[in-house]
Amino acid sequence: MSMGFDPAWLAVREPVDAASRSAELLAQVGAALPDRPRVWDLAAGTGSLTRWLAPRLLAQTSFLLIDHDATLLAQARCDGVPIDIRTDDLGQLTPAEAAGADLIAASALLDLLDDDQLASLAELIMESGTPALFTLSVSGDVSFAPADPLDDALRDAFNDHQRRGGRAGPDAPQRFAAHFPADRVTVAETPWRLTAGHPLLGPWLDGWLAAAIDERPELAAPAAQWRRRRLADPSLAVEVGHRDLLIMPEPERRR
Ligand SMILES: C[S@@+](CC[C@H](N)C(=O)[O-])C[C@H]1O[C@@H](n2cnc3c(N)ncnc32)[C@H](O)[C@@H]1O
Repeated sequence: MSMGFDPAWLAVREPVDAASRSAELLAQVGAALPDRPRVWDLAAGTGSLTRWLAPRLLAQTSFLLIDHDATLLAQARCDGVPIDIRTDDLGQLTPAEAAGADLIAASALLDLLDDDQLASLAELIMESGTPALFTLSVSGDVSFAPADPLDDALRDAFNDHQRRGGRAGPDAPQRFAAHFPADRVTVAETPWRLTAGHPLLGPWLDGWLAAAIDERPELAAPAAQWRRRRLADPSLAVEVGHRDLLIMPEPERRR
C-alpha cells in the first residue's frame, strides 16, 4: 500500500535533487569506503538516491534499498546496477545490521521524522559506527526574487505545517546534528534553484501553497492571487533551502 509519496512527484524532483546534492560530501565519505562497499539507501522510495550514488561510487558497490512503502520499492531500479530491497520501517533496523553497511545514505527523509525517530536513527549510526550521508533535508529557508509581501507569511505557514504531528520539519537538520559530536558532522547547503518555466516549479509551488493554506486557511484567497502573479512572472527565481549532513562516527566505534 502506498503511504503517501506519489512516484510522479519523486520523479519530477529527481533531476533537481541530483543537481543539488553535495558532491563534496560524497567525495569525502567515498574516499573512506572499502573496495566493495555496501550501501544502505534508507527511505529509498523508488531509488532516486541510489541512481545518483551508483555512478559516483566504485562499480563493485552493492545497494540495499529500505523503505516501509512496498509500492514505491517495487518500482525501484538502477540501470545496470543490481539492487536489493527490504520493506521495513526504519525503527526496525538494529545497530548489528547497520554495522554490516559501509555507508548509510538517505535523501529527503529527516524532516519527516519526529524527535524519537531522529534519536533512534542517530543511535543506529553511533552504535554501529557507520558513516552516514543524509542529503536534502528541508531547511525551511525559501527565498523568492523578486520578493513579495506575502512570501514570509506563506513560508512560515508551510514550515509550521511541516512540524505537524511532532515532525521535525525544517528543524530536522539542526536537531539531528545535535545528536553527534560537532567535529563528526559536516553540513553543506544544497538548495534547489528554480526559475520561471522549470518543470518542478509549478508542482513544488502548488504543494507548498496547499500545505501553507492547510495550516492557515485564511491565506487561501491572497495565496491564489500570489500564485497567479508568481507564475506569470518570467523573471521569477526561487531558492528552496535544503541541507546535506555527513556524519563520520569515530572509527574506533566500528565493530
Ligand atoms: C520524500 S520521500 C523520498 C524518497 C527517496 N529517498 C527520494 O529521494 O526520492 C520519503 C520516503 O521516506 C519513506 N519513509 C518515511 N518514513 C519512513 C519510515 N519510518 N520507515 C521507512 N521509510 C520511511 C517514505 O515511504 C518515502 O519513500
